Amino acid sequence: MQVTKAIFKCSSERISQVPKDNLRDIAFIGRSNVGKSSLINMLTNHNGLAKVSATPGKTRLINHFCINNSWYLVDLPGYGYARTSKQLRGSFSKIITDYIFKCEKMHFLFVLVDIRLEPQKIDLEFITLLGEHGIPFGLIFTKADKLSKAQRERSIARYAETLSEQWEELPPHFVSSSERGIGRDGILKFIEKCLESV
Ligand code: GTP
Ligand code: MG
Repeated sequence: MQVTKAIFKCSSERISQVPKDNLRDIAFIGRSNVGKSSLINMLTNHNGLAKVSATPGKTRLINHFCINNSWYLVDLPGYGYARTSKQLRGSFSKIITDYIFKCEKMHFLFVLVDIRLEPQKIDLEFITLLGEHGIPFGLIFTKADKLSKAQRERSIARYAETLSEQWEELPPHFVSSSERGIGRDGILKFIEKCLESV
C-alpha cells in the first residue's frame, strides 16, 4: 500500500469523541516510550505527524490520523507509565480499555514491544486480556536498529517461547525500526490485507 495522504484528524479524551464515520481503525498500543508515535510517523513518511518524545507518557489521548481518506491509524496512550494520573503501574487506564473493548471502529490492534527486552509482565498481561476478549492483534518488535540480526532472532524466539505457554502460535508479528525504516513495507502490506477483510 502507498500512503498518499496522512492527516491529523482529532484527539479524543473518551471514546464518545472518536470520529463518527464508517472508516476503520488500525491502532497502535504498548508501553510508554516503546515507539508507537515514531512508528506512525515512519509508516506515513511524515515526521512530526505524531508527537514523539524521549519522556514516557507523551501520548495521553486517542489520536486519529486519516490515511488516504479511507482508514485511520490510531496512536493510543502508552500503558505502564506510573505517573499518568489515575493509572497505576500494572493496570490499564479506562481510556485504553474503553477503546479496545467498546469502540466499534477498532479493526486491528498492533501491540508494540521493545525488541531488546525480555517479555515484560505488563505486555503479557495485556496480550492475555486481548485473548480473553477475542480482540484481533499482532505484535511489532520496535527499535530493531539497536540489535544485530542474530540478537533480534534470539529475542523473537524468546518471545515465541514465552507466548507458547498460552498460545498455540505467535500472532502475526513484524520487526521494525523507525530510525531506519525497517518493517515499513511488511506492516503496510499486512494492514492492506486486514482492511480487505470485513
Ligand atoms: P508515549 O507516547 O510516551 O507512550 O511513547 P511512544 O510509544 O509513542 O514512543 P515515541 O515514538 O515517542 O518514542 C520514544 C523514544 O524512543 C523517542 O526518543 C524515540 O526517538 C525513540 N525511538 C522510537 N522508535 C525508535 C527506533 O526505531 N529506534 C530507535 N533507536 N529509537 C526509537
Ligand atoms: Mg506516543
